Amino acid sequence: MENVKMILKEHYDINITDVLPQKGGWASLAYKVSNENQGYFLKVYEKSRASTPKLTVLVDQYVPILVWLMQNSFLKGKISVPFLTNSGDYKCEDEYGVYLLYEYIEGRTIGDQDLTETQVRQLSKIITELHSHGEDIPVETDAIKEDFDIPFLQILLHTLHKKKNDLPSDIWELIHPYIPLLYDLIQTVQELSHNLKKCDLRMALCHTDLHYWNLMQSGQQLILIDWEGLKLAPPEADLIFLVNKPYFDEFLSIYQKTDQNFSINPEAMTFYRGKRRLEDIWEFLEQLLYDKQEEQERIVIMNYLREELHVLSENLY
Ligand SMILES: Nc1ncnc2c1ncn2[C@@H]1O[C@H](COP(=O)(O)OP(=O)(O)OP(=O)(O)O)[C@@H](O)[C@H]1O
Ligand SMILES: [Mg+2]
Repeated sequence: MENVKMILKEHYDINITDVLPQKGGWASLAYKVSNENQGYFLKVYEKSRASTPKLTVLVDQYVPILVWLMQNSFLKGKISVPFLTNSGDYKCEDEYGVYLLYEYIEGRTIGDQDLTETQVRQLSKIITELHSHGEDIPVETDAIKEDFDIPFLQILLHTLHKKKNDLPSDIWELIHPYIPLLYDLIQTVQELSHNLKKCDLRMALCHTDLHYWNLMQSGQQLILIDWEGLKLAPPEADLIFLVNKPYFDEFLSIYQKTDQNFSINPEAMTFYRGKRRLEDIWEFLEQLLYDKQEEQERIVIMNYLREELHVLSENLY
């Protein structure tokens, strides 16, 4: 707690009176910190975690894009954007972690609830607006441009090639029945990656992690949070999260008012769906193999991994 207070004082010049641990997401810890006037949401990526470099390396590239969107689009008040530090950065760090400070959103996370009709319309408009912007915006987007490379595939393949004795026995028991399926999916995704690299697809700003734990309702407004996956990519990078929803037709009718000629590219859809499946599987494996966790937490991650592998066997990708 003390180091949280020190970070806030040193890098944001805020004198904190309260620090309250929050239920964070998968990848980071979170605190509600307050001074006399207001509450803030502090996200902490621990340096001890294998996923931290990947999740924090692009902060200085994607946050200026969010700031531009907040100031120049209808997304103002509908997205969460970190505060600047005293030295003009969007993150700061010490030997323990990387820190990002946000306004505290009073409200509730949608999580496993369904969206109401109003929320469906608001989400559809947020995504339509987001996708209406591309590389024409006056902020550099090169660093977040989709190249259809899949950086984690090599290490995933390397892990799948390992012999029984080179992996913890419970992990080996869990994954080995699924290895042929995983190889199949990897091959499909690699072929699509190769093809999509050669296509000249329209690219738009995409969130790329549109699940309901990244949606909050605050007053009358739905807010889209957790923008660390922001990319300049084909719209299918977001549409994979919407296509199976009961409101997809309504979403499309709103979307097509802005982009009349839009039609789904099935190859891009299969690519992003397959890539996401593999990525989720890899992230659970990475945690189990490289992070430290308590016994109970390890069981939870093993169960998530089991579920992901099961979905794969039902050929739902
Ligand atoms: N600014 C905020 N104010 C209040 N609560 C927030 C705020 N930002 C996030 N939260 C809450 O914290 C949870 C985790 O935040 P966030 O999604 O940003 O973290 P994460 O670690 O990146 O999660 P994941 O990687 O699993 O998507 C959210 O689901 C939400 O409930
Ligand atoms: Mg999240």
